[in-house]
Amino acid sequence: MNRLPASSASPTLSAGLYTQQQLTQAQFKRISSFMEKTTGIKMPDSKRTMIQSRLANRLKVLHFNDYAQYIDYVFSTSDTANDEIVMMIDLLTTNLTHFFREKPHFDFMTSTVLPHLAECGITCPQIWSAGCSSGEEPYTLSIVMKEFMAANRGVFTDYSILATDISTRILSKAVDAIYPLESVEKLPYDIKHKYFLKSKNPDKPYAKVKNEVRNKIHFDRLNFMDISFNIRPKKHIIFCRNVLIYFDKPTQLEVIRKLVDCLEVGGFLFLGHSETIFGGNLPLRTVSTTVFQKTKEC
Ligand SMILES: C[S@@+](CC[C@H](N)C(=O)[O-])C[C@H]1O[C@@H](n2cnc3c(N)ncnc32)[C@H](O)[C@@H]1O
Repeated sequence: MNRLPASSASPTLSAGLYTQQQLTQAQFKRISSFMEKTTGIKMPDSKRTMIQSRLANRLKVLHFNDYAQYIDYVFSTSDTANDEIVMMIDLLTTNLTHFFREKPHFDFMTSTVLPHLAECGITCPQIWSAGCSSGEEPYTLSIVMKEFMAANRGVFTDYSILATDISTRILSKAVDAIYPLESVEKLPYDIKHKYFLKSKNPDKPYAKVKNEVRNKIHFDRLNFMDISFNIRPKKHIIFCRNVLIYFDKPTQLEVIRKLVDCLEVGGFLFLGHSETIFGGNLPLRTVSTTVFQKTKEC
């Protein structure tokens, strides 16, 4: 077992906490099967070290000596076990994202999707960022809407964005809308200037999304494994990007089917650039790279 560096060891800690506890194969299987069943996220054997290190701090915080005690607790019927399950899911999801990620999608939205919706007489586009992580995607969508409406006055009267994720920890970051300055560094100057506030304290440099961008977005927790999403009103645009890659093929298809059910006929579904749709006989036609349009009711 690896000892922690001497500098991080406190003399008041018991010997058990100086060591990195090992997650056995059986314990790993217990957690990975639960995660696959509950969230759809695939957890092959190669993820064992990742799970062990992401949960290591929970052992410390809860004063457990090993993963056996943690597993007994998290899967127990105690009142607090459910909160720990939410915490465990938070820690085991991957939340990588950034502003204007996969920019061609936002360019296509501006050049083709929004003019098309306007032509169809839509006055208030309904948008959903499904698997929104820490908020960069829905805030980008909100900025794109503002830019489009400023350049095409009177075309839309308003817009509304729903942003959902399974992780409560990441959703609260999204609601805060505060980001390290580096995360907006590469954005064009006028976008930064119009839509972000910069902290005045040089010791705590951060950027905050302005209220006019934030107040169009409603954040909520949603698990793609829910039997039905029942999201209404139906959406004109759904972004579900870089989420399906974590699921196996049947789960991917099932999630896409439920998303399509929440999409208006003629509405658009955006998947991540490395994601695609195999089979399933869905009422979708490809209109651009990983962008699909709903052709008829399911
Ligand atoms: C890699 S991030 C993608 C963020 C953003 N869509 C993007 O492309 O930048 C994937 C997000 O999917 C969420 N996620 C994973 N499994 C989920 C599930 N079963 N239900 C809802 N969200 C889930 C994770 O919590 C994470 O925030």
